[in-house]
Parts: sequence; C-alpha cells; structure tokens
Amino acid sequence: MEKKVNEVASVARDGFTSKFGIIAAAAGSAIGLGNIWKFPYIVGQNGGAAFIIIYLVCIALIGAPVMLSEFLVGRRGQKNAVGSYKKLAPNTPWFINGWMGIVAAFMILSFYGVVAGWTVFYVVKMLTNSFAALSPEEIGGMFGSFITGTASDGSFGQWWHPIMYQILFMIVTAGVILGGVKNGIEKYSKILMPLLLLIIIILDIKAMTLPGAMAGVEFLFKPNWAALEVSSVLDALGHAFFSLSLGMGTMITYGSYISKKENLGVTSIQVTIADTLIALLAGLAIFPAVFAFGVAPAEGPGLVFATLPNVFNAMGGIGQIFGVMFFVLLSVAALTSSISILEVVVAYLVEEMNLERKKATIYSAIIITISGILCSLSLGPWTTTFPVLEISETGMFTQYGYFDFIDKISANFLLPIGGLAISTFVGWKMRKEDVMDELSNSGLLKVSYYVVFEILAKYVAPIGILIVFLYNLGIIKL
Ligand code: PHE
Repeated sequence: MEKKVNEVASVARDGFTSKFGIIAAAAGSAIGLGNIWKFPYIVGQNGGAAFIIIYLVCIALIGAPVMLSEFLVGRRGQKNAVGSYKKLAPNTPWFINGWMGIVAAFMILSFYGVVAGWTVFYVVKMLTNSFAALSPEEIGGMFGSFITGTASDGSFGQWWHPIMYQILFMIVTAGVILGGVKNGIEKYSKILMPLLLLIIIILDIKAMTLPGAMAGVEFLFKPNWAALEVSSVLDALGHAFFSLSLGMGTMITYGSYISKKENLGVTSIQVTIADTLIALLAGLAIFPAVFAFGVAPAEGPGLVFATLPNVFNAMGGIGQIFGVMFFVLLSVAALTSSISILEVVVAYLVEEMNLERKKATIYSAIIITISGILCSLSLGPWTTTFPVLEISETGMFTQYGYFDFIDKISANFLLPIGGLAISTFVGWKMRKEDVMDELSNSGLLKVSYYVVFEILAKYVAPIGILIVFLYNLGIIKL
C-alpha cells in the first residue's frame, strides 16, 4: 500500500514531461472561472476599460515576475509551498508564507467548487434546452433562483440543488488528484483548451454583431477614469493574482514538477499571455451581449450566467450545441484550476505531514466541500446567518455574505501578500547566483531578461503591492 501511494505521488511529481505538458498544466491552472466568470463581472462592477488598463498593468509588472518567482522557488526547492521555502531558507520564518497559501487554497476552493457546480448545472440546462423560450429577464431570474435555492413557492426549499452540483464537482476534482496529474487531465486539456478558445472566438463574433453591441465594446475599451473607485485598484491587483493562480503556492508546487530542462522565463510569459488573452476574449463575448440584452453590467457573480444563454438563443438552432460545448469546456477549465488548488494542500500534507496521498486528498476535499456548502447556503437560506464585515461601499455584497467574504479576503489580501513575500524572497533573500543558476538551467540558457526580472522582483512588484494596500487603506492618496 505504502509503495503504491509513493508511486502515485511520484507520478505527479515528475508529471510534466513534455514541454506542452507544463504549459498546458500551468495554463490549465491559470485559465478557469477567473477568466470567464470573475473577470467579466468585476470589470462590470468597476466600470469597464479603466479597470482593465489597471489590471493589465498589474499583470505585466507584478503578475509575470511573481509567476516566474514561484516557478523558480518551486523547481529549486523541489517541494510543496511550505517545503520549498524551508529548503531554500532553513531555520527562517519564510515558510509561514507557504502556510498562508494553504489557508488561501482552502478558502478559494470553497467558493470555486460552488461556482464550478453552477457551470455543471448549466450543461444540464443547455442539454435540456431550458433557456430557449425564455426572455433575458427570465434567464436572469432562473439563475437567481438556482443559486439561492429558491423553490417555486418562494421558500429556500431547493437549497440542496446547487450543493448537489458542487459536491459532484468536488468529487471529480478529488478523483483527478488521486489519479495523478499526468494520466488524467493533461491529456485532455491539450485538446479541450484550444477548443474553448475557438468557441469563445465564435461567441465574440456573434456577440459583436448583435444590435446594440457597440456600447459593450466601448465599455471595454474606452476608459472612463471617473468611474474608477479606490477599491477598484485593489480589485484589479487581487484579480491579477487570482487569475494567474499566484500568491498561494500553486505555481511553486507546479514549479517543483517542472523538468530541469524547461525554460522558466519563457513558460511564465506564455502562461501569462494565454491567460490574459482568454480573459479579454471572454469580456468581448460578454459585454456586447450585456448591452444588447439589457443586462446590468454591474450585475455581479451572475453576469456570465445571465448573459450568455441569450447569445445562444440568438444563434438559433445551433445555439444549443454551442451552449452545451461552452459550459462543458468551462467546467473542464474549472477542473484544471480546481485540481491545481487542491494539489497545493495535498502536496503539503503528503510531504510535510507525511500523510498518505489518498487520505490527504479525501480529508482536505471533505473539509473544503463543507466550507463550500456554507458558501452556497450563504447565498440563500443563510444569507443572514453569517454576519460578515461590510465589504463594499455600494452594499452590493451584503447579499452574498460568507461567499463574497472569503472571495475578497483570499483574492484581495492573502494572494497579494503571498506575492509580496515571494518576490521579496527571490529579489532580496535568495543569492543572485542561485537565481541565475535556476533561470539559466545551470548555465545552459541565456537569461538576457535578467535585469528586467531583477528590477521587477526586487522593487516594482513588492513596492507596487504595498502602494496598492496603503492606497486602499487611505494612508496614501494618489
Ligand atoms: N486561476 C484560476 C482561475 O482563473 C483560479 C485559481 C486561483 C487557481 C488560485 C489556483 C490558484 O480560474
């Protein structure tokens, strides 16, 4: 038994053998609900183009160097988030940053599993063609009833409905983690992710040719700086981390699986570009339709779910096929991300706590699922059961309680703090020769970008993150 467990763990550890394997796995982690569900809705809440510009700046100046830092630390440490810090900086408190990542992973996967459950439900809805005869308002209403668990009599009698899909999704996530990374998911993401890209592009074309679509394109590309709020900057930074899977050890853990032959610099740039491209294309599929069908841009977490079925309806007969494919692929994209979150926790439990991989997977999946159930209930019957901090000035989130609370705490605080720590670690704590040795694969590669990376990791990323925090706290004014 023991041997078998170790075998599974080692399959996962040397999992990414081919070049495409590592890019697919890291891009699979990055590309997910963050790009297609979260990006459009926070763009909508933060007023459009101006927010996107700030987001892109965060991605380029902070996200990209932090991703490379994580890969670097993971591959050099050859361990999970906590273990890699311990190995590279023994007898120092740096590993606490790894722990914070584990906490963030628990939080993020709690609500991630819930939203992924929604996408699975939408596969079923599309298969049964349930949106075909509905108006945009009815489609929005149906989403609202589903996630809150509202029954036809107005009670929360259907509370278990979204939870059922969440549990299903979490079982599949745990199953993939048990089966090892290489055999399962890698093989499929190679085919399915390019297919998702193709469908999004088709949706872009359809959405942009809808009557009234240009207002959406303008919303995305014509900045109105006046609409930007102080909190928008933190939202942009937090989402840069969330979308690129940074700040909690995912890319450290995956970095430890990357072969010594890969070019880490090139890989991190490719993943960053792919992730950003998908988010922008998703925005371009959604906002023209938002304006064409009169959905409110600031609608919140339901934006994608309330908007896209209208686009499928507008496509006529083939719309249903596209709809099914879209939600199937979105569920797969969510899966390649959720496994990367669970893997952070499991790798830690296996390597640092000496737990068997199977036990580690099952226990952590159960605890996360329970927290996720609370998330789901907090949208419906238990809205007032979790009296959490008032998060947004607009009051938008009071309705979402626990769900939105752990989303904000993890994405807007834990992840950027994790990013602050890792860039400081690579920029200031690690020896320059070690960083250089890792980036150059022990002298085999030319690292012409080194100066740029050093400036970003040492100064721009940590100082940038600090400034955003201080600005949000009102301590500095821009
Ligand atoms: N990046 C993933 C997405 O966009 C979510 C994620 C966050 C995955 C943090 C891993 C770590 O959907």
